[in-house]
Amino acid sequence: MERLAGQRILLGITGGIAAYKCAEFVRLLRAEGAEVRVVMTAGACEFIAPLTLQALSGERVRTDLLDTDAEAAMGHIELARWADHVVVAPATADTLARLAQGRADDLLATVCLATAAPIAVAPAMNRVMWDHPATRANIATLEDRGTAILGPEQGDQACGETGAGRMREPAMLVEDLVGLLTGSGPLAGVRVVITAGPTREPLDPVRYLSNYSSGRMGFAIAAAAARAGADVTLVAGPVDRPSPPGVERVDIESAREMLAAVEARISGSELFIATAAVADYRPVEHAADKIKKTDEGERALRLTRNPDILATIAARADAPLTVGFAAETGDVVAYARSKREAKGVDLICANTVGHGRGFGDVASTLTVVSAGGERTLGPARKDALARELIALLTDELDARCRPAERLKQ
Ligand SMILES: Cc1cc2nc3c(=O)[nH]c(=O)nc-3n(C[C@H](O)[C@H](O)[C@H](O)COP(=O)(O)O)c2cc1C
Repeated sequence: MERLAGQRILLGITGGIAAYKCAEFVRLLRAEGAEVRVVMTAGACEFIAPLTLQALSGERVRTDLLDTDAEAAMGHIELARWADHVVVAPATADTLARLAQGRADDLLATVCLATAAPIAVAPAMNRVMWDHPATRANIATLEDRGTAILGPEQGDQACGETGAGRMREPAMLVEDLVGLLTGSGPLAGVRVVITAGPTREPLDPVRYLSNYSSGRMGFAIAAAAARAGADVTLVAGPVDRPSPPGVERVDIESAREMLAAVEARISGSELFIATAAVADYRPVEHAADKIKKTDEGERALRLTRNPDILATIAARADAPLTVGFAAETGDVVAYARSKREAKGVDLICANTVGHGRGFGDVASTLTVVSAGGERTLGPARKDALARELIALLTDELDARCRPAERLKQ
């Protein structure tokens, strides 16, 4: 079966040593029925000949932005409109930087800026380049804009080092694209509800109680679930963050609004992942007018408990696989174990926060606590942790929903 039949894929190749793997990538994409057009940077042309890609794609390979013939009909705009999906593989550190900056200084960067099609990048570089804060920041920027980050993988590198930075193998990239474009990944047909970000509990028209949650973990999990083919609803507290591609987003402010939004959508879902940092308490009073300063040196604020969203969903007769997050400053795994039991939740992901850890774009670990024991994911950035977590949850769902098939194996 040709799983990418009719899909128009624009492949951008950049100047990394992994460029040679793109010949195989183009061949595999075409074997899946995709139409492939190739744009190469000047650097890429030093690593692999455009003629090779031209022969394999069956299309003229484009390398120049300022090409008088091609641009007679605004070729870069035509390419940008033609694509159903843009894939940059390998994506060098340099190209990632230029894409993050929104530059248009060569044909590939210009097409990426001019296209409305989703973009995926498969980074490939030396492990120190990949770990460099500049590259991390560029990846975070691209991810925030909805770019799918495919890989990189751990392993031996052309420079003789070992670590993260190898391009994903062409066959794996094809599987990624099949999941992204056709929704036929391992979670195809699975409905997932995810909460993310902080809640805001209003005090008066200009003030509220909240927390430092960036929403990054929940958004990364939503993106990873959507890439795995799931039908994802993301119930998000107030964060300035674009929606991941293919995800239905519901914006809320308070804990009670978040619960109502989740309850309205949870029926028929198979997975509920609660990453939101929900305020445990809200002010008893929500003043209609701005609270005025007085001469008193101290002032008491009365708080009342908010609903427990995770426990409420876990207690439903039709509860999906329920996954909570425990962010703590102390012994987080012990706390996660008791939280799991107290709330009747299937899995709790424990992570340490505070003192620069946990919130925002920092590498962290997740200890996933279940009835069967514990498993640690990472240390890694949140996008990589999200991918690992979705793979683990896919296995959990398989174990739950298909016991008969498991027994046959
Ligand atoms: C032999 C060699 C191998 C290289 N491999 C990589 C690589 O794997 N990843 C990377 O980010 N840059 C690599 N570079 C550096 C890029 O070629 C360089 O940054 C270039 O400006 C990339 O341009 P482009 O992204 O427009 O193709 C390599 C350079 C050389 C000389």
